[in-house]
This record gives sequence, C-alpha cells and structure tokens, in this order.
Amino acid sequence: MGSYGYFDDKTREYVITNPLTPVKWINYIGTLKFGGFVDHTGGALLCKGDPAENRLTKYIQQMPSGEFKGTSLYLRVAKEKGFQLLSPLFVPGLETLDRYECRVGLGYSRFITEVAGIRTECLVFVPQGKACEVRQITVTNVSQQSVNIDAIPVVEYSHMRSYMQLTNADWVPQTMVSHMHEEKQGKKIILQYPFMYRDTKVNYFTSSWAVSSFETDRKNFLGNNEYGTWANPLALQQSELGNYVAKRGDNICALLHHLGTLKSGESQSFVTLLGQEASLEIALPLIEKFRKTQEVDKAFAELGQFWDEYLEKQQVKTPSESLNHMVNVHNARQCYITKNWSRYLSYYQLGLGARGIGFRDSAQDVLGVLPSAAGEGKELINQLLRIQSPEGWAWHQVNPLTGIASSGESEEYSKGQMHFYGDDHLWIILSVCEYIKESGDFAYLDEKLSYYNPQSPQTPTQYGTVFEHLQLALKFTREHSGKNGLPLLYYADWNDTVNLPLGSESLHVANLYGWGLKELIALCKHLDKKELIKQYQTDWDSMSATVNAAAWDGEWWIRYIDEKGQPLGSHKNDVCRIYCNGQSWPVLSGFASGERAVKGLESLHSLLNTQYGIKIASPGYNGMVEGVGGIATYPPGAKENCGIFLHTNPWVMIANCMLGNGERAFEYYQQINPADKNEIIDLYEIEPYAYAQNILADEHPQFGLGRNSWLSGTASWSYQAATKWILGLRPEYGGLRIDPCIPKAWKEFSIKRVWRGAEYHIHVRNPHNVNKGVREIILNGNKIEHSQLPLLPVLKAGTTCQVEVILG
Ligand code: NOJ
Repeated sequence: MGSYGYFDDKTREYVITNPLTPVKWINYIGTLKFGGFVDHTGGALLCKGDPAENRLTKYIQQMPSGEFKGTSLYLRVAKEKGFQLLSPLFVPGLETLDRYECRVGLGYSRFITEVAGIRTECLVFVPQGKACEVRQITVTNVSQQSVNIDAIPVVEYSHMRSYMQLTNADWVPQTMVSHMHEEKQGKKIILQYPFMYRDTKVNYFTSSWAVSSFETDRKNFLGNNEYGTWANPLALQQSELGNYVAKRGDNICALLHHLGTLKSGESQSFVTLLGQEASLEIALPLIEKFRKTQEVDKAFAELGQFWDEYLEKQQVKTPSESLNHMVNVHNARQCYITKNWSRYLSYYQLGLGARGIGFRDSAQDVLGVLPSAAGEGKELINQLLRIQSPEGWAWHQVNPLTGIASSGESEEYSKGQMHFYGDDHLWIILSVCEYIKESGDFAYLDEKLSYYNPQSPQTPTQYGTVFEHLQLALKFTREHSGKNGLPLLYYADWNDTVNLPLGSESLHVANLYGWGLKELIALCKHLDKKELIKQYQTDWDSMSATVNAAAWDGEWWIRYIDEKGQPLGSHKNDVCRIYCNGQSWPVLSGFASGERAVKGLESLHSLLNTQYGIKIASPGYNGMVEGVGGIATYPPGAKENCGIFLHTNPWVMIANCMLGNGERAFEYYQQINPADKNEIIDLYEIEPYAYAQNILADEHPQFGLGRNSWLSGTASWSYQAATKWILGLRPEYGGLRIDPCIPKAWKEFSIKRVWRGAEYHIHVRNPHNVNKGVREIILNGNKIEHSQLPLLPVLKAGTTCQVEVILG
C-alpha cells in the first residue's frame, strides 16, 4: 500500500488520505476535564473527568474497525423508492468515497470527503475549557444536478460508569433514560442520563438546526429487532424518525436534519453539540452560544491560539525533516496529551478501571511539557507529591477526581508483599528539579504539601516542603537496600512486569537513585547548601561503588539480583541475558566508568539493536515461568518480554550523547521516529504522527508491528532526547546550556527557545564536521568568555537575543 497520508507542515496537520488504515488512527480532543479521542472515521470516545466513572459515548475499541463506535454521521438522498444512504465519514456504511481526507490537527480533526456528488466537511473539537464536543458540518452539492439531502448525526451513549456498561446487561439498560426538550422554532435538545444521575449530571445532544424528528432507542433505529444494522439502519428508510423517548434500553440520539434541495454548488451548514452539565439549565447558555457559527469560529481560533503559544516556546530547524515534524508539532503535542491523559484512555488503554494518573508515568510525562506549560506541569507534580507516603515511597496511582491513591498492580499480585514499587518516589526528583530549571521558581522548594493519608485521603495529617519531599524520597531508597547494598525492588521498578520475591534488588532503582542524587547535588550547589552537598556526594559515591562491585557482568551490566542472590540480565542466564536499561542507566546515573560505560552500550548495540528500535532485553521467555512476574505472559519479542519497548530507546540516545556518540544517538532517534514509518506503514500499522509504546521485535513473526500508540513515556523522553541532548539545549539553574551532540554530516541547525520569558534564537554551525564540542558562542555580536562555555546567561524576561554557536 505504501502510505495512508502525509504531513502538512503549513497547517501542522497529518492528513490521512485513505480511510483503510491498518488499524484505527486517532486524535485527541479536549482534556481529561472533558474530551477524549476521535478516530479517523469520526467515531469518538468522550468522557468528563474520568473515563471509568463518567463516560458519554459507547466506543468499544475491540470491535472491528468498520463498526459504529460512539458517533457517526449519515447522509441520505431521496430516491424514487426509499433513500440512498451514505456514510461520509466512511464508517459505518463503508461505501467507497471519491475523496477522503482526515486532517489530524492540534486538538481537532477535520474531515473532508466526497461521495455521490456530495461534499461533507466536518470539524470536530472541544472548545477550550468547555464540556462539549462541537461538530461543525457543511454539506455541499458538488454534482451538476440539484439534490435533496438529509443529514443524520448519531450518538450512542454509554452508561456513565463505563465498566458497568460492559459488565451488566440488566441494571444498565433499566437505568438509561432519555428526555426531549422542545424549543422554539423546532429546535430540540435531547437529554440522556442514567436515572440515578438525573438531578446531578445530564448528557445532551443538540443541533443548531431545527431537526424534524429524532430517535433515542437503538432498537428502533436499527429496526427489525436489531437485525437491522448500523450500516443500514432501517429507521433511515422512513421519511421521519420515530420521536421515541427511551425510558430504558440502549440509548442513542439520532437527529434528522432536512437540509432541503441543494442546487449544484450550494451548501448548508449546521453545528451539533454533545456535552454534559449538571442540568439542562446550566447547559442552555452554552448551547445557545455554540449554535452560532461565529462563536464556533471564535472558539476554534482560541484553540489555535493555545497551540500557537504552546509550540512557539521551542521550534527547531534541522537537516532532518522528520525530526522537525515531530519536535515542532507532533511530538510536542503528544507530550501535552500524555501529560493530560497519563495512561487513562486511548485506542489501547480502555479507561475502564480505577487506574487514574500513574505516579511514575506522570512524573516523566511532566518533563516533556515544561518548556511550554511549566505551570500545568507544576500542578501535576503537586498532585503526585500529595500521594507520597510520609515514609518516602509513593503510591502508584491517583484518581484526580477523588484524590484517592491506589497501589496499582502491586495490590493484586503482591501476595503479602509490600504494596508499592521500588522506583516511583524517585522520579519526582527529576520532575521538580527540571521544573525549577525551566521556571526559575526556587520558592517552590519551600511550598508545603501534604503526604498521603490512606485512612482519610481528604484530611492529611503530615506535611513537608517540596524540598523535604525530595529528601525523603532519597532517604527511603538509601535506607531500604538488600543483601548486596542495592535498593530493594519491591513489587517492580520501571519494568512493571519483572516481579521478583521480596528481597530482590534493582539496578534500575540504584541508577535512578544515582540520577536523583546528582540532581540534588546540583540544586544544593546552586543553593549553596554545603552540608547536603557533602552528604549526597557521599551517598552517590557509596552507591556507585556498590553498583560497580555488584553489577558488572564482564561485557555489560546486570539488571536485578534476586532474593537468592542470583543475577538477572547476566551471561549466566538462559533468557533475558542483557537488558537495555541495564546499559543506558549506569551512564545516566554517572555510575558507569569510562570503559564500562562504552562497553555496556556497545554490547547493547550488538545484542539488542534492530532496524526498528532497541529491544528491552534478549532473548525472551518462551512460556510461563513461576516467580518472574508478568514478563513471561507474553510471547518472546512482545512488549516487556524482549519486544522493542520504545520508552527505553531515548535513554540510550541520551546515554550516547553523554558519551559524545552523535552518530548512534541520531541513528537510534531515527529508527523509532514514527514520521519515518511511511515506507513500512503496512507492517508498522499505527499512527505515523505519534510515538508508540511498543513494536514487536525480531523473535516475533510480526517483527516491526507497532502497538499502544500515544500514551507512552516514549513521547516525553524522545522529545527530551531530541531537544536537550541531540540538539543539546538544556535549562540549568543558572543558565541555558547549549551542548549539541549531532551527526557529523549536519552542517547547521537552529532553535528558537523561550526560556524564563526571554527569546533565544540560536544558530549552530558545524564547519569541522564534529559530533560534539562547542568552540565559540557569540551572543548578540559578543563572544561569550571561554570559561562560561557552553552556558548562555539568564536574560531579562521580554528580551530577545541572537546566538551563534560554532562547534569544532
Ligand atoms: C507501561 C507503564 O505505564 C510504565 O509505567 C512502565 O514503566 C512500562 N509499562 C514498562 O513496564
């Protein structure tokens, strides 16, 4: 097949031009406060506040791609006998379209299709801060004859408690209720709610058009006791819908719009609104507002402005077009999406459980939004710090609606072990430190925040400053080590699926602890806290010695030591003999000495690298093995069982940059860059405009197949690898470091970066074809003193500067 679309740089969209994508490709609209995703055939999954407890549309990801999912739009043309039914968004009718474009934009999708001489344009988005999905629909007769056209947008509701919808077919249908609110001039608002919520929250679907009839019961709409199909609902063969107000059953809402007879070239437009408020009265002003085209246009412009401002904080121009696509638009956007949605809801994350926001995941996601949305990042960091325990470890997840924390999978499988992970609490050190480097908000360190009180989450009893929270995190790890002096793994570390008996030790936690210590040492140096610098340096030295004594395997680093003292990730093992994080993280922590650092990364390259990315480990478990955890549930080559788990790849890029290997760093960057997947898209299958969590590796027959796109730490870390390490622009407490590590062949590149309110226009030249090394910096025409290299000064907010950097 080749390609299903292209990047449109001017509009910052990816344009899907063929609806037959290998799997559904999605786009996000709105935020967790109200929003969800819209797929490339117009289906939408929407929720308000929480996809498990408050969902609007019934979108079942596992159903085949041609099925109706959540929402759609039908058109129909009156024929001599009955009506010709059309699906301008392709699903569910699946007629061949004469033109199809789905423009995946920033916070919106715009469909432009043509079928049977009718052009449909449909813009889908959620106005900033509002709780409704807007669809602005324009239908144009592009044929030579006049045509009489009806448009019928349809929504299928989920019970607000989405997991009940899927697990209970008695209580759910008995509670689902619709209500019709008739307005002046034939306009209607159709309300829907589970009976129990009648007085507290109602869904509504309405149009700016005076609809002539409606249907709220799926059985009536599909007809023939539901042996009618979504592809051809029998109710659409009647001149009017049944105006049935459902008091139970599968609630939908279909609104019949008679657009009238359109002459050749003539158009009609209307707006549909699907939202949720506490009551109809509260919804009414919003409905009135967005029925007006000017208001929709204004709200759409505001959305555009938000993204203009978000993206302009960092823009790059490099010799790599696909890097530019990702860093300037799509990767930056994905970072914001992961920050907003954590691992809640995607085409792969069903959002049915009590998952909430993940401590580890969100602490890393934050790092990807700091240049553009430091304030929002801080809010999220605060949410996480509030679920740190007073002992220093952190709860694994928190529901943002209730503030209630949970232990994640460690709860289910822990069998009497302690209910937490060995790593969670340490990640937040990176988030806080990067937030301060970005914002210069040192006062944040003194803000008091609560520790989590599981007995009564709403009434915490213990507090500490942000700085104390961080210190406690380090203290907990320092004081909880195993027989070899390495930190205890507890339920798991970053790799959720290696679950070893209590007493097992984790090299990853050791290295994360090392990175955390380095961060606090740098912070304390800036704050001139001499005692703490001394203490943390001693801790770092001591862990470095322990890691070097216990974890060097000869050619690479091991990854765990189990409770019996046996290594995992060693040449002594039959499976998972070498782990990717095992090699990158000792470089990130600084524990790897010169030769060991290089050797570890070389072993990684020869044993784990593939053309589609670096594998998480090798070789895989082949069958269930007791006592190792979830890893062995996958076939070899899939996910954590030696798949290409993409989240780990940017760490290897960063480690290579730290060692000055710009060729490797960029090679690794490009081999997982989704924007470079067009050539193999039928193999890769998923969106070329968003990073995925995993790709099947070479032990699997479908090597190269990507899955679990969008909500992955790959987004934040790829963005950081590209901007902070390959392009080398890193905020520090007292200046902006510019220390690129690029391919020798790159002659030049430039970055525009807004940092602490000042605008830096940086142009880097590489006349001597080096990977790394800043020879000279000229700031506004003046050479920066050699001793200051390669640090740019903090400038007054509001100022702009021109920076010329010469490598060599
Ligand atoms: C996905 C989880 O969301 C993340 O927290 C974890 O680090 C990776 N899986 C690896 O297991």
